[in-house]
Amino acid sequence: MKTMDTKLWSKGFEPDKMIERFTVGRDRELDMKLARYDVEGSMAHIQMLESIGLLTSDELSQLSAGLREIAGEIEAGNFVIEPEIEDVHSQVELMLTRKLGAIGKKIHSGRSRNDQVLVDLKLFMREELKRVAQAVERLFHRLQALSEEHKDKLMPGYTHLQVAMPSSFGLWFGAYAEALTDDMQMVKAAYRITNQNPLGSAAGYGSSFPLDREMTTRLLGFDAPHYNVVAAQMSRGKTERAIAAAIGAVASTLGHLAMDVCMWMCQNFGFVSFPDELTTGSSIMPHKKNPDVFEIMRGKCNRLQSVGNELALLTANLPLGYNRDLQLMKDILFPAVDELVDCLEMADFMLEHIRVKDNIVEDPRYDYLFTVEEVNRLVLSGVPFREAYRKVGEEVQRGEYSPVREVNHSHLGSIGNLATAEIAKKMAMLTDEFKV
Ligand code: ARG
Repeated sequence: MKTMDTKLWSKGFEPDKMIERFTVGRDRELDMKLARYDVEGSMAHIQMLESIGLLTSDELSQLSAGLREIAGEIEAGNFVIEPEIEDVHSQVELMLTRKLGAIGKKIHSGRSRNDQVLVDLKLFMREELKRVAQAVERLFHRLQALSEEHKDKLMPGYTHLQVAMPSSFGLWFGAYAEALTDDMQMVKAAYRITNQNPLGSAAGYGSSFPLDREMTTRLLGFDAPHYNVVAAQMSRGKTERAIAAAIGAVASTLGHLAMDVCMWMCQNFGFVSFPDELTTGSSIMPHKKNPDVFEIMRGKCNRLQSVGNELALLTANLPLGYNRDLQLMKDILFPAVDELVDCLEMADFMLEHIRVKDNIVEDPRYDYLFTVEEVNRLVLSGVPFREAYRKVGEEVQRGEYSPVREVNHSHLGSIGNLATAEIAKKMAMLTDEFKV
């Protein structure tokens, strides 16, 4: 049924099919994620249009009912972007016009798809960032619990990948928990940058209608308007890059954890293991139980750290104002969020089943872990540090050093004082914002 123009911008000619395919790209698929937010944005916009006299109250109630119906179809999974229609914004307006006739065409007064897509993206990314925050928080609690559970189990600490000083599973798990609090700062910063209202910036230069931008800010639950209309448009790109920085931060922590697990699972270390069903096999070597999950996680997390670069290159030196290149950011950012959440959930699932080896440091290959403990014992008995260091060093050199496998670390943040509660408090303060 083709009773009306399929393009919002139609003016009597149809674009070439090749042009259409190339410019629409993956929008029909990716815009599906924006559909409910597109309707939400339109709901706020029409309430505002009525308040400034651009719609009658009767038109407002018809349009609201029409949009609610569309929202219902989206919720029920029946909404589609038709093959002839180029994006979600066109589809929603078309459906409304089919339902209501000419009134449907009134919703676009004082608006452009440029601010419309921005609103959709901000509402959508706000929810996506909450999803990331929740997955980070879940993993954080898992790591903290493991840290407490295994706090008395020592393991070697390395520098230069050489045996260095005693560490513990309490420290190791706890370190990644605290690292996630720093990443959460980035997620929160990205959330704040995202949570500003671009609606009313229209094509990027505002409108001669007296748009009430405070009203739409309130209706859509944004913290504040992005006041300057040009700045609002510039936030397309800046917002995505802030989100990518947050994604990259979380990914770098998670990728590092995945690397540790791969290494600790190697037989030469053998510090951790997993139930057989969580490992993978080899097609030729019958004995293999490989850490493929953590290898894929490491690879994905490394790739996720390139998202910021991809976006920076895509948007570098674009002219001020809307440019169609911006559309391609959706292709980069949308899958990245899914990928990150998937990795976080996988990490949580795997760590639920991690097995930690006991008595690792009893092995003579770790004798020298305890040299600093010996030096410190001498210092406490009154020997100056440099002398104590030399004495123990010479014993090692002569092969006469024998370790006392005893560790007395009690200062804040050390093996014997993990500050688990303090770190939990730090995280709780950060995540409050996501519980609105
Ligand atoms: N699909 C477009 C995007 O994501 C929507 C905005 C189109 N605006 C335009 N002036 N062509 O950027």
